[in-house]
Amino acid sequence: MTQQTAQAQRIRIFDTTLRDGEQSPGVALNHTQKLEIAHQLARLGVDVIEAGFPIASPGDLEGVSRIAREVRGPIIAGLARANRADIEAAAKGVELAEKPRIHTFIATSPIHMAKKLGLEPDAVIERAVESVRLARSFVDDVEFSAEDATRSDREFLARIFRAAVEAGATTINIPDTVGYTTPEEIRDLFAYLRGELPEHIILSAHCHDDLGMAVANSIAAAEGGARQIECTINGIGERAGNAALEEIVMAFHTRKDHYGFETGIRTREIYRSSRMVSRLSGMPVQPNKGVVGDNAFAHESGIHQDGVIKARETYEIMNAELVGREAAVLVMGKHSGRAAFRKALTDLGYEVDEDRIKHLFARFKDLADRKGQIFADDLRALVESRSDVP
Ligand code: KIV
Ligand code: ZN
Repeated sequence: MTQQTAQAQRIRIFDTTLRDGEQSPGVALNHTQKLEIAHQLARLGVDVIEAGFPIASPGDLEGVSRIAREVRGPIIAGLARANRADIEAAAKGVELAEKPRIHTFIATSPIHMAKKLGLEPDAVIERAVESVRLARSFVDDVEFSAEDATRSDREFLARIFRAAVEAGATTINIPDTVGYTTPEEIRDLFAYLRGELPEHIILSAHCHDDLGMAVANSIAAAEGGARQIECTINGIGERAGNAALEEIVMAFHTRKDHYGFETGIRTREIYRSSRMVSRLSGMPVQPNKGVVGDNAFAHESGIHQDGVIKARETYEIMNAELVGREAAVLVMGKHSGRAAFRKALTDLGYEVDEDRIKHLFARFKDLADRKGQIFADDLRALVESRSDVP
């Protein structure tokens, strides 16, 4: 589907790095670290920061309160299960925010309702309504989520969402809690629910990555009518993680011709945000990860390097600078070609004639076979040893 409309549809970015992201096994951020990340998220231009789950611990409540007090720009949300104690804690957490939101949720799938909650479907609806009403007594901006929505009955979802909207919810979130859905299925679910709910209600997608489809599913949800996407920096989160903010944003940016969506993200802040979250959470980014991985803009094969030297667009669909990184890197190794080798020497300040390049290139290939990756110092040693000169 290629959209040629001039008016791009705005997608709100709801960042949950500090809540669902912090639920990554082994990650625990202190207040100062959370505040540092929240300030960076505001610089990045996210629309909503889910700052934490205030009932979880006094520390979480304090973390959310500090962010609410000190970070300006985005909406600050606190998570709450559908009960009084959680909602009161969330209300306290966000009370000093410039734009406070309470995000309350209850599970709606048959397995969660029967085995986890021990509640009949009508009782679940009742709890949802009471909770949204209570949340609305504290703030004007209330988000309601149906946990495990993608394994729930869609008519039941429509019923509970209509009831939540009547009780005052302004955003309706449809999470793929266990990363189970597919792009076609979630697009269809959103299109159905869009038709069931008033137009002014924002539909939101929240996808997990258990089958590696969180980003694709989030984008498909937007095609079906989602106008808010919940995601995390580097895709960190519970189990296999959440949809990665940087991939969604750059997919919309790079393929605006195709999707016709835009976000308010300042893309040049993406890499800095990624490095900060990795450093503070202690979760490394896999080298081959899209947009922010070490290798995302590195070219190693001779054919690719030659192409990139002639025109970057041959093998780059976006510029590294656009996401706040250094220009593309040519990795010198046994797959490198002569064009890249010549360029690497020129970049290091050597003027070497074609005859000598030929000899040096043969020695470079031998070295690369033995050593793997070749660094600037190896190249300097190669040129300066002059052992190739008779
Ligand atoms: O995955 C999920 O269902 C959640 C909800 C609390 C929104 O994180
Ligand atoms: Zn989640």
